[in-house]
Amino acid sequence: MMKDNKNKSFDRQFEVYKKRIEQTLQKIAEDLEYPHKLLDSVRYSLMMGGKRLRPVIFYATLNMLKRPIDNNADLIAASIECIHTYSLIHDDLPCMDNDSTRRGQPTNHILFGQGVAMLAGSALLNLAYELMFRSLKQPHFVYACHCIAAHAGGMGMIGGQIEDIALDENPDAGKLLYIYQKKTAALFSASFLSASLIACVDKSIIKLLGEFGFSFGMAFQIKDDLDEFINGNPIEDKSEKFNWVVAHGENDAVIELERQVQKCRDILKELKCDFNIAFLNGLLDRCFA
Ligand code: IPE
Ligand code: IPE
Ligand code: MG
Ligand code: MG
Ligand code: MG
Repeated sequence: MMKDNKNKSFDRQFEVYKKRIEQTLQKIAEDLEYPHKLLDSVRYSLMMGGKRLRPVIFYATLNMLKRPIDNNADLIAASIECIHTYSLIHDDLPCMDNDSTRRGQPTNHILFGQGVAMLAGSALLNLAYELMFRSLKQPHFVYACHCIAAHAGGMGMIGGQIEDIALDENPDAGKLLYIYQKKTAALFSASFLSASLIACVDKSIIKLLGEFGFSFGMAFQIKDDLDEFINGNPIEDKSEKFNWVVAHGENDAVIELERQVQKCRDILKELKCDFNIAFLNGLLDRCFA
């Protein structure tokens, strides 16, 4: 009964954050004045039903750190989702993963063509920085923007993606940890870190939340590999991709997933005396239970 109540309150809170980012993105997408081909392609991917996990994490972390969620926070949350969306459009291109469906719908390049998809991804990345610049009226936002830019760039997400696309030709299990930390965990980590930089909390808390984000992202990517392996969607056919399950086997993947989730739980225990960790605990249950 207690557990049911906890789950319900998590679900309610998740929906509040999700609604907030949906409305923010809706308004941003409506206001764009791009040439119509680009606009259709950008709106298609931005509004096509992502889980919005990264902005939800950003809002939840601000809230946990007792920092109010205002319009400037909305700009940062939206910028993170724009970066995530661009990364998926590019990730699906024939020159990368060559996937024809995403979230059960045709990928951007299937509908709009490769040239448009490439430019839509680039426009979304630029949009992310426009939104970040608009948030700079408040103190500490500049640190958050720098953090997001660094984690999304060549030392972060793009650094991971570049190694990932080389994997199919030269499979190397030893590189997977590095690749997953960069291609997936870096942007998750930035969602926690940017909120803690805005909230201006103690360095030790920032460090813990950054580590939480990295373990969360590692677990998330391994879970994604496991889901692809177990559900084996023949339409999306990602089966030939070299990943953690292919490299280390299903059992090892499950063990590593559990190890990363346990690391997250241990960090939450450390944060427990100062903060309300209920939402982040609930998020671990929602994503990995
Ligand atoms: C997909 O991320 C890419 C990976 C890191 C595996 P999400 O599963 O968060 O994507 P959407 O936005 O909810 O579809
Ligand atoms: C996606 O990894 C990572 C980024 C887009 C940065 P995957 O290639 O495994 O994600 P899916 O399976 O296409 O969603
Ligand atoms: Mg990929
Ligand atoms: Mg992919
Ligand atoms: Mg995948």
